[in-house]
Amino acid sequence: MTASEGAFRPGGVRLGGWAAAVVTVAVAMVMALGAAVPARAATTLRALAEADGRYFGTALTAGDLGISGEMNVATAQFDMVTPGNEMKWDTTEPSNGNYNFGPGDQILNFAQSHNMRVRGHNLVWHSQLPGWVSSLPSSQVRSVMESHITTEATHYKGKVYAWDVVNEPFNEDGSLRADVFYNAMGSGYIADALRTAHAADPNAKLYLNDYNIEGENAKSNGMYNLAQSLLAQGVPLDGIGLESHFIVGQVPSSTLANMQRFAALGLDVAVTELDDRIQLPASGSALAQQATDYSTVVKDCLTVSRCVGVSQWGVDDGHSWIPGTFPGYGAATMYDSNYQPKPAYNATVAALGGSPGGGGGSGSGELHAVGAGKCLDVPNSSTTAGTQPQIWTCAGTSNQIWTHTAANELTVYSGGTTMCLDAYNKQTSAGTKVEIWQCNGGTNQQWQVNANGTVTGVQSGLCLDVTGASTANGAMVELWTCNGGSNQQWTLG
Ligand code: XIL
Repeated sequence: MTASEGAFRPGGVRLGGWAAAVVTVAVAMVMALGAAVPARAATTLRALAEADGRYFGTALTAGDLGISGEMNVATAQFDMVTPGNEMKWDTTEPSNGNYNFGPGDQILNFAQSHNMRVRGHNLVWHSQLPGWVSSLPSSQVRSVMESHITTEATHYKGKVYAWDVVNEPFNEDGSLRADVFYNAMGSGYIADALRTAHAADPNAKLYLNDYNIEGENAKSNGMYNLAQSLLAQGVPLDGIGLESHFIVGQVPSSTLANMQRFAALGLDVAVTELDDRIQLPASGSALAQQATDYSTVVKDCLTVSRCVGVSQWGVDDGHSWIPGTFPGYGAATMYDSNYQPKPAYNATVAALGGSPGGGGGSGSGELHAVGAGKCLDVPNSSTTAGTQPQIWTCAGTSNQIWTHTAANELTVYSGGTTMCLDAYNKQTSAGTKVEIWQCNGGTNQQWQVNANGTVTGVQSGLCLDVTGASTANGAMVELWTCNGGSNQQWTLG
């Protein structure tokens, strides 16, 4: 709103003449005051990692893309995407010479439209490999492998940050896995795969990726010796992916030293598939240990200048591969099945140098209803206790400026007739209305502004929700079960 437009108060009453001038001056003063209390930028994993010159990624499958709650978290928190399955051989070349890049393209397009990069995963792997490849006569394996790599890496040329060129080539004892590629070509298949990928997409970072190579052990020694010998032969190898599928409490103490020895070869390292599984039901102490584990891994990466980033395998516990693959285990990610951040999330934020808990915004400013693109607004600038806030076009007026206080209140008209956002009659059921009330320190007046974008009532545990996911001026706000909807996403400041 500019001074010349006159003043439309958010409640819809048009003022003119002298009154408009007074409101305009008041708005200018409030805006100036707002500027004097800078709201801290929202804390997200991606923003914090980027500030450290790294990325923070996740894995997404095509099915995940349709789940809005999951995607709200994914797009807010992560800036790198690994397709969970969509670029694997069984999807991309289900029969000899017939290519299907549709699902992989879907992930790539989603990532690009949300300002996320992509780690290509993967070109050569013994698993999720169609039967027709495993049953090829040895004499045909090399040309089939090279054609597959060339066709897929050319299709995605210039569009992926990196490729896991060979995935999981090692046995636990550090010998190479006797899969169809090794059996046909011997250990030379790895150099051949890397050279073929490099010819197709010279700018993609080329990786070897495996699990149980995070610490120093027989398997990671095998990878280290292979990497050293490939580099000595001038084979185009850029990085080593440490998958990092951990069991809670079992992050190897030699992880940092192991990352450092690969980096000392002149290679990048990346944590490519981080999760930390817990035997269900997850106890509080297991979740606390998981927070320590996540923090350890992230700090290790930040300590190594050539550690380029960390990717979690999946977004939240509800869509993680762990329960399906490791029966009895789960709770392996930083987000629970309701898309709420777990202790591991806060620990990760802290490890990245952010301040946990203040994530979705702290301080003072407009409280934006993200889904509606509107602001939380007290109708007609009323100061009457019991007035229910609505959403309205953002205007920066004092009836839209909220302060999240150290006591977790959300106050409006701070410094004037300060009022608090209040859950009506201390009710805790879904559908409870919210209103403004004299501040009294009650738990129904305490609000958590969460890093995942929700605002939760401390007493009810429920989420501040725009009723009916409406985007219209005048839509009411209530408490509702947290469900990851965009009508439960708020930013302050
Ligand atoms: C997993 C996927 O998440 C599952 O959906 C699929 O059924 C099996 O593969 N190491 C890898 C990943 O490199 O590709 C695997 O992904 C997990 C282990």
